[in-house]
Amino acid sequence: MENFTLNNNTTIPAVGFGVFQIPNDGPTYDATLAALKAGYRHIDTAAGYMNESDVGKAIVDSGIERSEIFITSKLWVQDHGYENAKIGIENSLRLLGVDYIDLYLLHQPYGDYLGAWKALEEAVAKGKIRSIGISNITVNLWNKFKDGMNLMPVVNQVEFNPFTQQKELRKVMAENDIRLEAWYPLGHGNKDLLENKIIVDLAEKYNKNVGQIILRWIYQEGVVSLPKSTNPERMKGNIDIFDFALNDDEMKAIEGLDTGKASHNPEDPAVEQRLMGMKIHE
Ligand code: A2P
Repeated sequence: MENFTLNNNTTIPAVGFGVFQIPNDGPTYDATLAALKAGYRHIDTAAGYMNESDVGKAIVDSGIERSEIFITSKLWVQDHGYENAKIGIENSLRLLGVDYIDLYLLHQPYGDYLGAWKALEEAVAKGKIRSIGISNITVNLWNKFKDGMNLMPVVNQVEFNPFTQQKELRKVMAENDIRLEAWYPLGHGNKDLLENKIIVDLAEKYNKNVGQIILRWIYQEGVVSLPKSTNPERMKGNIDIFDFALNDDEMKAIEGLDTGKASHNPEDPAVEQRLMGMKIHE
């Protein structure tokens, strides 16, 4: 597995296994264990996914050293604000059953965001979290929050794939040395993307599947990807992308697929209202 360096000089495995929408009490445990067996060393969960405890159990049962696994989790909006966030961090540590988390993100950009960020900064100072980052931050939201942050986020995890390239956001994040992470790297199974002729032709040329071409392109763009698969062969294949390289023309051809659109708009008030209403505990 290849790694990227972050702005605090730590490293992150370039591809991680995302457990969004996989239920707890079994399915997430099985998926995480399978991913670790397949060679993943980076698991991306969140308090809001409500499956941190399964991730923690699978890591213990995998027999792999804790220090060899990179764990990302995220604080849910219900726990925003300084005091609530301190409790939220402790809950994640307890549910994961670990004494530190490699990367902890503010999952959604609403509520008392900067109060929560301060709690994350303190948890870094105490060694409970190694790196902190943001998620679903647009350029406007970045401009709103950036001056209230002492510690620079190491990543911004957003929707990203060949159809959704976030070009303006990437420029602003690059200026601040904040690495992008891609959720929905495969377009969440979008047929138009997975059957795109440019990508299908490259898959044939390199004897890879379309997912591998997309994930290789994302890797060469310097973006961390978090593909999800419940299929053991594809799960394995999605990290088998380091034995070939797309050339400049091929990179440009995929770059040309950008639609400039995303399925998720964090600035939509209806999205904010819906997410702020999602409760994960009392
Ligand atoms: P499956 O679970 O059957 O493999 P995303 O990570 O963007 O949310 O996309 C996940 C979707 O992409 C799932 O429907 C998954 O289906 C599918 N998928 C995962 N890996 C590949 C791949 N290598 N090629 C094609 N489809 C894939």
